[in-house]
Amino acid sequence: AAEKQALKDKIKRLLQEKNAQLVAHYYVDDDLQALAEETGGKVADSLEMANFGAQSEADMLVVCGVRFMGETAKMLSPEKTILMPDLNATCSLDESCPPKEFAEFCAQYPDHKVVVYANTSVEVKALADWVVTSGNALEIVTHLKEQGEKIIWAPDRHLGHWIQKETGVDMIRWQGHCIVHDEFQMYELQSLKEKHPDAKVIVHPESPAEVVDLADVVGSTRVMIDAVQTLPDQKFIVATDYGIFYKMQQLAPEKELIVAPTGGKSGHCISCAHCPWMAMNGLHNLAACLENETGEILIEEPIRQKALQSVERMLEFSR
Ligand code: 13P
Ligand code: SF4
Repeated sequence: AAEKQALKDKIKRLLQEKNAQLVAHYYVDDDLQALAEETGGKVADSLEMANFGAQSEADMLVVCGVRFMGETAKMLSPEKTILMPDLNATCSLDESCPPKEFAEFCAQYPDHKVVVYANTSVEVKALADWVVTSGNALEIVTHLKEQGEKIIWAPDRHLGHWIQKETGVDMIRWQGHCIVHDEFQMYELQSLKEKHPDAKVIVHPESPAEVVDLADVVGSTRVMIDAVQTLPDQKFIVATDYGIFYKMQQLAPEKELIVAPTGGKSGHCISCAHCPWMAMNGLHNLAACLENETGEILIEEPIRQKALQSVERMLEFSR
């Protein structure tokens, strides 16, 4: 405990010295989320992380999350130093969509608008007309459908399927998946629901369609937290990374939260969903990256300019 406190104190001091702020995702370790809040940074979903970074007056942002979040921060604030505790913290969706193959895929459908999820590399975003997050995908795709557009969707097939079902848009999908959310199990969730008939089921839309079909609420991490906080129900079964329980419990301490079953097991935290890349962020490497200014995100200017257009289109739309 003493070592932990010393690390936290060191991080706080370095943040002040360097006029730096922490921007953390809801899936990272509780200690990092708490530190971001205590030091005037932000804990958020990927959309709010992007907005916060763009508006921040700090000289340096330390992004505790996965690589695409750091890249988005750099795209929006090229003048700031953007650091990450571990640059190897990637995402299975990003990995599933290599830019060269994706460019070839898009070339087959020249009359389609290219819509990519935020969980992609800067190179893939540079190929897109629109970037979306789970927080605004429905509104943006509804808008495109109203304009009579057909779309290419990448990379998450489950999120794409859900958006297609909700909007009825003409959609061609890339077949990526999130290794964390893909693990949620329909039959086990069904029996957990039967055991807790008074619980509301809230699901992140990166989960398989048959799991999404069992949900009372489907949405981004922010929407899921809002549901726990604002719905009158007392019990919630939650299908997303368990890092989110920190914020849910903080905002609604009186509510009972139950982990949705993954990988055929249920109940015990061994089978909890947790993103291995989010888990690469810790107090030690956070302190080290701040101290030595390592783990810097750098993007070549031409590619940044290209990718920025589709990201800015998204932020403009969501304002
Ligand atoms: P949110 O945009 O809902 O925060 O999701 C990001 C993510 O990586 C979910 O797995
Ligand atoms: Fe990517 Fe899934 Fe991890 Fe989110 S939880 S960062 S989508 S691998």
